[in-house]
Amino acid sequence: MVSSIENISKNITDIYKEEHKESYAAWLQYKNIENNELANEYKQWCSSLNVLGNSLVIESAKKELSLGISSMLGIQPELNSEPKQSGLVLAAGNSIDNLVDADFGQLNEDGYIIKTVTTDESNRIFLVGKTESGVLYAAFHLLRLLQEGKNLQKLDIVENPKNQLRMLNQWDNMDGGIERGYAGNSIFYKDNQFSDELNRIEDYARLLSSVGINGISINNVNVHQVETNLITSDLLPKVAEVAGIFRAYGITTFLSVNYASTIQIGNLSTADPLDPEVKQWWKDKAEEIYSYIPDFGGFLVKADSEHRPGPFTYGRNHAEGANMLAEALQPFNGIVLWRCFVYNCLQDWRDRSTDRARAAYDHFKPLDGQFHSNVILQIKNGPMDFQVREGVSPLFGAMENTNQMLEFQVTQEYTGQQRHLCYLVPQWKEILDFDTYAKGKGSEVKKVVDGSLFQYKYSGITAVSNIGNDYNWTGHTLAQANLYGFGRLTWNPDLSAETITDEWIAQTFGQDELINELVSKMLLESWSIYEKYTSPLGVGWMVNPHHHYGPNVDGYEYDVWGTYHFADWKGIGVDRTVKTGTGYSSQYFKENADMYENLETCPDELLLFFHHVPYTHTLKSGVTVIQHIYNTHFEGVEEAQGLIEAWSQLKDKIDSERYEDVLARLQEQANHSMKWRDIINTYFNRKSGIKDEQNRKIY
Ligand code: GCU
Repeated sequence: MVSSIENISKNITDIYKEEHKESYAAWLQYKNIENNELANEYKQWCSSLNVLGNSLVIESAKKELSLGISSMLGIQPELNSEPKQSGLVLAAGNSIDNLVDADFGQLNEDGYIIKTVTTDESNRIFLVGKTESGVLYAAFHLLRLLQEGKNLQKLDIVENPKNQLRMLNQWDNMDGGIERGYAGNSIFYKDNQFSDELNRIEDYARLLSSVGINGISINNVNVHQVETNLITSDLLPKVAEVAGIFRAYGITTFLSVNYASTIQIGNLSTADPLDPEVKQWWKDKAEEIYSYIPDFGGFLVKADSEHRPGPFTYGRNHAEGANMLAEALQPFNGIVLWRCFVYNCLQDWRDRSTDRARAAYDHFKPLDGQFHSNVILQIKNGPMDFQVREGVSPLFGAMENTNQMLEFQVTQEYTGQQRHLCYLVPQWKEILDFDTYAKGKGSEVKKVVDGSLFQYKYSGITAVSNIGNDYNWTGHTLAQANLYGFGRLTWNPDLSAETITDEWIAQTFGQDELINELVSKMLLESWSIYEKYTSPLGVGWMVNPHHHYGPNVDGYEYDVWGTYHFADWKGIGVDRTVKTGTGYSSQYFKENADMYENLETCPDELLLFFHHVPYTHTLKSGVTVIQHIYNTHFEGVEEAQGLIEAWSQLKDKIDSERYEDVLARLQEQANHSMKWRDIINTYFNRKSGIKDEQNRKIY
C-alpha cells in the first residue's frame, strides 16, 4: 500500500533518477569511491561541513556537498555553523580573514579560493567565495576533485571566471516543443503551461551551476503569441517560481520578449520605440516584472530577423530599438541582450551586390557608441548560422564602444543533431582564440567578449542549450560533453580542449585509462570527422531545408535558386573578396582581411567561404578541390566507422544503458555518413565530370 502511494507521488524525473541513474546524473555521478585508502583520506576532510553564514545559495552548496560526500564516501557529514578544527569550512566574503591566509582582494565577483590549512590542532579545507555564488562554485570544484580522485592535502586554488555573463538560451516553446531541440521536449513547459516537475529544473540548475553558468533565458527567441504572455500577470508568478529555483544556484533568469508586445498584449497600435506610449508601456511592464522577480536579468531580443517584428518597421534603427527597452530596465539594473542575427532571409542569392554574411556588420557597425550601457549585442560566432565551419564574425572587436557578447550553439542544429557525435569544444576554442587584430596582435575574440580589450561594462558568452527531457538530457549521451565543455570555457576560455575532455570523462565514466584514452580521442576527433563527410572547405549548408539534417547540396531553404554555393561545371565557392566578390572580406581588420582576400593566404578550410575556384584548383594540402572533396568524404566514413570500433572496446567498462545508447547512435552516424558521402561525391562528380584519382566507387 505504502509503495503505491509513493509511486503516485513520483514524477517522471524521480523515475529517471532511479531507473536511468547514470544517464541522468551526467557528470554529477558521485559514484562510491572504491579505493579504500583514498576514501579514508577523503573522509578525514569531509566528515564535517562547517558553514559560516546562511543564504539560499550557500544552502545549495551545503546540500550538494552532503549529497556528493554521502554518495561517494558513504558518510553523512556533520553540519556545524562555526569553523570546527577539522573538515570543510564554507564562507562568503572575508568573514574568515583571520583563519586563512589568503588574498581575498584577488577575487572577482564570482571568484573563490580553495585552500587546505593544516596546523598542529587543525585540518581544514576552506571553500571561500567573494560572494555566496563563489562558495557554491568552490563546492562544485571540490566535488570535481573528489570525482577525479585528486589529492586534497595541499590545495591552494584561486579561481576567477574570465567572463562576467556565462549564459544559456533555451529555445523552448510553451507547447513543450524546442526549436532545434534534439533531446525530447522541454523541461520547462508542457501543453502551453509550465511543467510541474520542478525537481527536473533544479537538477538542470545543478548541472549548470557546477560548470559556472550564471544566467539563463527560459524561452525561445522566436516569441509566439503564447510566450508573449510570459510577461503578463497570468504567467509571471510561474516565471518567478522557476527564477527562484535558478536563484538558489546563482543563476539569473531572463526572458525572450516579443518586440511587438505593445500591440499583442498592450492594446496599443504600434511598437515604435520612439512612441511615448510604447516607452511608458515597457517602463510599466518592467516595474511589474521586477515586482515578481526582484533580480530579473532582463530581455533577450530577436528583432527584424526571419519575420520577427522590430524597429525597422517604424523606420528606426537597432540602437533606437534596443535603447527603448534598456531605459525601461535601467532603474532595476536589468539588461538587454540584443541579437545581431539580423539579415534579409528573402535575399536573392543571384544578386551579388548583397551577401547574408555581410548583414550583421553592415547593420550594427555604424551604430557603435549609440547603444545604452545596459545593452549588450549578442553576436553569433559566425556571420552565417552555426555551420560546421565558417569564418568568425567580423563584428567581434569592431565596436569599441558597444558591449558585446558571443553566442554559440551547443545544440547541434547543423552538426548532426545529437545523432552524430560532434564535440564542439575544439571548434569553440578556435573561435575564442581567433585574433581579430582589433587593437593589434593579441586581440583574440575571447578578450573582446570577456570585456577586457575595450573595458565593456557587460560582456560574456552565451549559447543555445542542447538539453531536453530525455532521460540523459542530450539525446546522445556523449553530447553531454558539449554542455559541460561550454560551461567550462565560459568560465575560462584558456582551458585546453584536452583538459576539459579529461575532466568530463573522469566525472562521467570514472577514472579508467582505456576509457579516457578512447573516449577522449573519439570526442576530440569528432568535429573533424563530421566536417569531412559533410560540407567541404567552409562552403557550409548542403543540408535538407528547414530541419537541417541530412545531405542536400542545393538544400539551403532561403535560396530557392540553389545557387548559394555557386557550383557549376567548372568550379565552386562564394566569392567574398573585395576585388571580384561581395566585399565581405573587407569587414575584418587588415591582417585578416588581407589573409582572406588572397587565394594564396586564405586557409584551405575556409577557401570556399571566401573564394570561387575551379575544381582543379590545388589546395595548400597539395590536392585539388575536387579530389579533396572525394578524399575527405571517403575518409570521413571510415573514421565514423572507427568510432564504433573504439567504443566497442568499452563494452565491459560502461553500464549497459549508456553503452548501448551511444553504440546505437554511432551506428546510425556511420550509416548516415555513407549517405552523405555518396550524395556529395555523386553531385560533384556529375557536375565537374572529373574522375576520382583513386577510382573509388561513386554512384
Ligand atoms: C537559425 C535557426 C532558427 C533560429 C535562428 C535564430 O536560423 O535555424 O531555428 O530561430 O537561427 O538564431 O534566431
